[in-house]
Amino acid sequence: MAAGLKPASWAYAEEFVAEDEVLADARARGAEVGVAPIGPGGGAALRFLAALTEARAVVEIGTGTGVSGLWLLRGMRPDGVLTTVDTEAEHQRLAKKAFGAAGIPTQRARLINGAALEVLPRLTDGHYDLVFCDGDKREYPDYLTEALRLLKPGGLVAFDNALWHDRVADPAQRDPETVAIRELGRTIQESDELLSLLIPMSDGLLVARKL
Ligand SMILES: C[S@@+](CC[C@H](N)C(=O)[O-])C[C@H]1O[C@@H](n2cnc3c(N)ncnc32)[C@H](O)[C@@H]1O
Repeated sequence: MAAGLKPASWAYAEEFVAEDEVLADARARGAEVGVAPIGPGGGAALRFLAALTEARAVVEIGTGTGVSGLWLLRGMRPDGVLTTVDTEAEHQRLAKKAFGAAGIPTQRARLINGAALEVLPRLTDGHYDLVFCDGDKREYPDYLTEALRLLKPGGLVAFDNALWHDRVADPAQRDPETVAIRELGRTIQESDELLSLLIPMSDGLLVARKL
C-alpha cells in the first residue's frame, strides 16, 4: 500500500529540483502551442538518469518545445548528442530556441522532423545509452521494440505519462492511449530482459534497463 501522502508532499517532491528561467520559458511556449511537457519532477528524474549513465547518445521521441530535451542535455556528458524526433517542425523550432537560450552548442542536438516509426528504423542499432519516449501514446508498445534495438546493453528506456492522468490504474478506462500504455506496462513487467521501475513523478515515468 502506498504511504498515503498528502497532495502537499507530492507537490513538494515534484518541485524539489527547481526549474530555471530557460525551462520555465520553454514550458510556457509549450502551453502556447498546446504541448504538454514533462513535469519538473519527471524532468529532474531524466536529468538524473542521463547523468547516472553518463549518457553520450540519447534518442528522444517527441521534442515538444524542448523541456525534456533540456533536462536530458543537462544530465548527459558535455559532449553528448541528443537525437530528438517530432512530427511538428514548429515545435522543434521552439525547442531549438530553448536549447540556444540555455547555451547548448548546436552540434549537441540533432533535430529530426518526422514520424517516430519512420525515423527510428534509420537510427543505428545498439548505439544509444538512453531512449526517452513521449510521442504518440498509442505507439508506445512499438517504441519499446525500437528502443530495445537502439539501446546498448545496460541502456535505459523511459516513457512519460505511464500513469496517463490516473487512467492507467483505472480498469474502467479503455481509450486507445490508456490501453496501449497498459499493454506497454505488461510487456515490461513480463520481460526477463528488462529491469523496471515506475517512478510516480509528474504523470508517471516508467523506466527499464536492458540487461
Ligand atoms: C507531450 S509532447 C512532448 C513534450 C516533450 N517531450 C517535453 O517534455 O518537453 C508530444 C510531442 O510528440 C509529437 N508527436 C506526436 N506524435 C508523434 C509521432 N508519431 N512521431 C513523432 N513525434 C510525435 C508532438 O508533435 C509533440 O510535440
